[in-house]
Order: sequence, then C-alpha cells, then structure tokens
Amino acid sequence: MSKNFKRTLITSALPYANGPVHIGHLAGVYIPADIYARYLRLKGEDVLFIGGSDEHGVPIALKAKAEGTSPQEVVDRFHYIIKKSFEDLGITFDIYSRTTSETHYETASDFFRKLYDKGEFVEKTSEQYYDEEAKQFLADRYIVGKCPHCANEKAYGDQCESCGTSLSPLDLIEPKSAISGSTPILKETKHWYLPLDKHEGWLKQWILEDHKEWKSNVYGQCKSWLDMGLHPRAVSRDLDWGVPVPVDGAEGKVLYVWFDAPIGYISNTKELLPNDWEKWWKDESTRMLHFIGKDNIVFHCIVFPAMLKADGTYILPENVPANEFLNLEGDKISTSRNWAVWLHEYLEDFPGKQDVLRYVLTANAPETKDNDFTWKDFQARNNNELVAVFGNFVNRALVLTHKYFDGKIPTRHEITDYDKKTLEEFAGVKKDLEHYLDLFRFRDALKEAMNLARIGNKYLADTEPWKIAKTDMDRTETILNIALQITANLAIAFEPFLPFTSLKIRQLINKTDKSDLSWQELGSIDLLPVGHTINQPELLFEKIEDEVIAKQVQKLLDTKKANELKEHKASPLKQDIVFDDFTKLDIRVGKVLECVKVPKADKLLQFKIDDGLGGRTILSGIAQHYKPEELIGKNICFIANLPARTIRGIESQGMILSVENADGSLYLVQPAGDVLPGSPIV
Ligand code: MF3
Ligand code: ZN
Repeated sequence: MSKNFKRTLITSALPYANGPVHIGHLAGVYIPADIYARYLRLKGEDVLFIGGSDEHGVPIALKAKAEGTSPQEVVDRFHYIIKKSFEDLGITFDIYSRTTSETHYETASDFFRKLYDKGEFVEKTSEQYYDEEAKQFLADRYIVGKCPHCANEKAYGDQCESCGTSLSPLDLIEPKSAISGSTPILKETKHWYLPLDKHEGWLKQWILEDHKEWKSNVYGQCKSWLDMGLHPRAVSRDLDWGVPVPVDGAEGKVLYVWFDAPIGYISNTKELLPNDWEKWWKDESTRMLHFIGKDNIVFHCIVFPAMLKADGTYILPENVPANEFLNLEGDKISTSRNWAVWLHEYLEDFPGKQDVLRYVLTANAPETKDNDFTWKDFQARNNNELVAVFGNFVNRALVLTHKYFDGKIPTRHEITDYDKKTLEEFAGVKKDLEHYLDLFRFRDALKEAMNLARIGNKYLADTEPWKIAKTDMDRTETILNIALQITANLAIAFEPFLPFTSLKIRQLINKTDKSDLSWQELGSIDLLPVGHTINQPELLFEKIEDEVIAKQVQKLLDTKKANELKEHKASPLKQDIVFDDFTKLDIRVGKVLECVKVPKADKLLQFKIDDGLGGRTILSGIAQHYKPEELIGKNICFIANLPARTIRGIESQGMILSVENADGSLYLVQPAGDVLPGSPIV
C-alpha cells in the first residue's frame, strides 16, 4: 500500500430484502468482509464495517403484488430475518440498517438533487410500454411475452429464462402487462441519465493504470466494460416503489435501485455517526473497500465511482475485492427456485456450529473461480479437519495438562532439536497470515492458521507425552508447555476466521481478558506463564454423523422435485390436423376383465378387455405405475382401429390411453361416469 491511510471503511453489498441470506452470499461477501474487519481491528486499526438491506427494486414490488401485500411488508419480513442471522453468525457490522430508513431517503434524495443541480445528468425522452388499465409504465420485468429466440411464451422484458438470452421489452412478441394482462401501448416518458461516456477517460486511468493490483477477475471485468465503451445509464424509473425523484414534474418516478442502493452505504454511516460520518467518506486518508459478488462489479467499480466523482466531494474505493459465485451441489444457487442453504435455517439445524460453516465457506471460498458447496464436503471438512486435527490437538493438550499437572502450565526445560524444528515452523505464522490477509486471499490465510493446528497435532503424535510420562517427567513438562503455547497461538490465529472457537479456547486456557493474547503476540512461545491454571477441557468440535448430512441432502432432493414439477412446461403443440383426421380414430371405452404382468418385461401389462364385441387382448406399458390386480373391473379407453401388433409373442389389438405426468408417471384415462363397454368416444 503506497498511501498512508489512517482508517479503513469496509462496505459489504446490501442484500436484497426479498429473501433470506444464503451460503452464496456468505462465501462471496459477508464472511470475507467480516474476516477482514476483525483482522484490522485485531491489529488495532480504525475500522468501520457497514452493512444493510437493499429494499427497493422491481423484484420486491413484484413479490408484493404476487402476494397481495405491500413492498414494505415484504422487506420488513426479510430485513429482520437477515439482520438476526448475520448477528448469530458473528458478522460484526458496526451498523446494519436499511434503504427504507428516513436517513436513506433524505441522503439519496439530496445526492440526486446535487448532481441534478450541477448538471451532471442528461434528460432523455423515450418510448416505453405503458399499461392503460393499470395506468402505469411497465418496468422490464413487468412485461411478459414470447421470446423471439426460443418461442418461450413466458419471457420477461429483460430476459428469457428459458434460453437465457437478455432481451429488451421491444424484442418480445405479443407483449402483455404482468399487472393487468392487457396489451401495453408505447408512450413517451422522461428519464435522467448518468452520462458514463463522459466519465470514461478518468475511469480508464484510475482503474486500468492506477489500480493494476486489483484482483484479476475484477480488473478483467472492468477492462472489458471500458474497452466496449460506456454509455449513459438511466438512473430513474417509472415505478411506485423507491425514493421519489426530487425534481418538479417527476411524479410517479423513483430513483433506479442501483442508484439509491450504494448511497445506502453513506446513509448507514450517517445513521451511525451523524456528526462524524464525513471523515469516513470525504477524507483522503480513509481507505474504502467494497466487498461484493461478481455480478456487482460494474456498479461498484464504474457506476458508483462515477456518481461519487460527479458529486466531487467523495473519495473513491481503494479496492473492490469481488468474489465469484458459490454453487450448491452442482447447481446455481437461486432464491426464486429455493435452491440454497439458507443461513437462518442452518443456524436452526446446526446450533452452536457457526464456525463450522464459517470454516467450510472460507476454505472453499470462490475467490478466483466459481466453487461448489456440497454437504459431503461440509461433513468431511468438519470431521477430518476441525475434529480430527484442530479439536483433537487442543483437547489432548488440555486433557494431559490436567492429568499430569493438575491443570497448571508446566515448565519448559531444555528443548530438543525436534522441538526447535517445530517451533521454527510456526514462528513465521504471523507474517504468512498477514501476507495473505492483506491480499484478500482468505482461503490461503485460513490454510496457514490450520497449518498451525496441524503442526501441533503432529507434535503431540510424534512426541507421545502419554508414554514419556511414565519415565521422564521433565520431558513431559516441556512437551506440554510447547503444546499449550501452540494452543494459545491458535486462539489468536483463528480469531478473524472462527471467532466462537477462538473465544472457547480462551475460556479453556483461562485467558479471556481483552489485553490477553493480542494479535501482536502471535508466534510467541511465552503466551502462557508457568503455573497459570487452565479450565476443565471441553471438545471444540464434534463429529457430524451421516444421518445429519442425509437429512440435508434429502431436503435438497425434495426441492429439486418440487421445482421440476413447478417448472414443467406443457409440451409444444403438434402440427394442426383437420376434423376428419380426428373422426378417423375409433376410440372406445372398455372394461378390464383380466390383467397380468407379461413375463420378463418390466413395463408391460397384458389386458383382456370387454369391448362389447366379444373381447380383445391389449398390451400396455404401464406395469411400473399400476398393480395388475387393482385394474380389474376398471373402465379404460382404447383405440380400437389400429392394426394388431405382436409383442413378445402376444398379439396386441389396440392401444390403451394414458396420461404422462411431469415427473414421468403414467395414469390411465377413464370416463368420468358409468358407461357400457364398447361405448365410443365422440
Ligand atoms: N442488492 C444487490 C445484490 O444483491 C447489491 C447491492 S450493493 C449496493 O446484488 F451497493 F448497491 F448496495
Ligand atoms: Zn428464449
């Protein structure tokens, strides 16, 4: 870092309050931001960590409409769930507020007004879809129609979710309003645009030349935006949910959600520090960092900086350590498809195991590429790493200290070459940890911390003090002294990552004072003085059994099934026929007289049907959906004028009609009433 910064302002993307927070949010944004905030605080730096809910935008308005409630009700519901679950996971925001706060409305409104007065916007009139019945302009998401690429009838004005193409409302064939169902008309509307093209010059210099140190995924995305050339972006919308545009003649218009949301960082700082917020936002000696996911890069690296620059009194971010995405069991996490591990549910299902999730999500963080969360990996990391290495080592050290030394730290006598080698191995841990943390490489940093536990675990396994205690007490004392010093180091090293575990170790070794075990002391082998008494041992981690994991996996399988049913689309229509084609089919009702399985055929049932004409035999491939005996006496429908076919040596004289359900299950078609065998379907 070249500049001399006095303080660090950490922001983390404000999650939309239209659903709870899931593991993807945590791995990509909140856990890294929290690790970093904790790390700087431990080093004694001046830090502010800002969070909050993003409560505007079309999806929230749409959700409210679909539920027949108000947008405010929707965001109230999720804001408190999100806030509470963050707290319970130990995310140490200095404030977690929301973009429906009074402070935010005022701040966002003033921000717009200042840029407006300075002439930083361009006004443009364009034609947009308008719903005459609902008397409102339609946001892209409010328009549904046929996709010009794949003919999906339910494409949205911004995207077809069937083929993934991004669309503009004018691309849709036969557009309909999602509000009233009526066909919208095109009507003129005025909006304000941030002329990003005018900012291109300094943005290129600032990012591409002055910030080559940004993560390559971030730098690369910025470069491709800048290379394509920037265009003016509308910062207002015709919508009734959001911060009203504070200009005469802007009735029915609100600030675009991506204009107001990042201002939320400022509002929340103001709410926390009404008299002192400016030094965090306007003083060049403040270092601002935005923790975000990759879909937010353009907004935080290009649009928001342009807004701040247009105002002219704000600092710009020093770095934007954005992450890639975390998938879940091979599929993209999705709030609308309920494909997620929700934080509030995890906290309920795994009480006291916050650090297990923090550990797994950090060890597997999508820092340089998309990654996958699987429950199997979660279990393996808990059982093989946290329990078998970290927990095992600490527990052994504490138990042996109680067994041989009455819970008092024993003396360290002369050390051996092997001891020396071990101590040297962890002497560098502080430097290594800081190196990675400073580069936002939290996976590698965690690996370093875990390495310390591995060193300790190996040390006890190799030196076997429980054997030596029988013959050499001095040596036993030395070994345990070293093991206990390593344990104390673990409490420090893991504090940014696993704060609950770190606190637990501190309690176990009886070092809970704030002044005890400071970050500065990391690497020292004199953290616990001889004679210091420790507390009774307790396990740090416990094994997670297969049944527990199976339950979580089943929950996901159920979701998958429910989604498949919900997302099932009617199969496309066949080619048109003429009425004559239909009348050629001789479809009749028959009564099942006999029904048996066809030997050696999994799918076939053999029917004897009363067709009113003396009976006939028909084979049908529904053996996996019905037991033969339950069909006897039932009425079915069959095609009577097909040529006979011989299957497995049996002549089938027609075809029985059945319906195929979304999940592939088959159901027989039956007349809804008592009819005589042989009656024609007309
Ligand atoms: N709500 C957005 C998302 O989840 C993030 C907003 S970040 C902010 O993608 F800067 F705009 F607040
Ligand atoms: Zn499509």
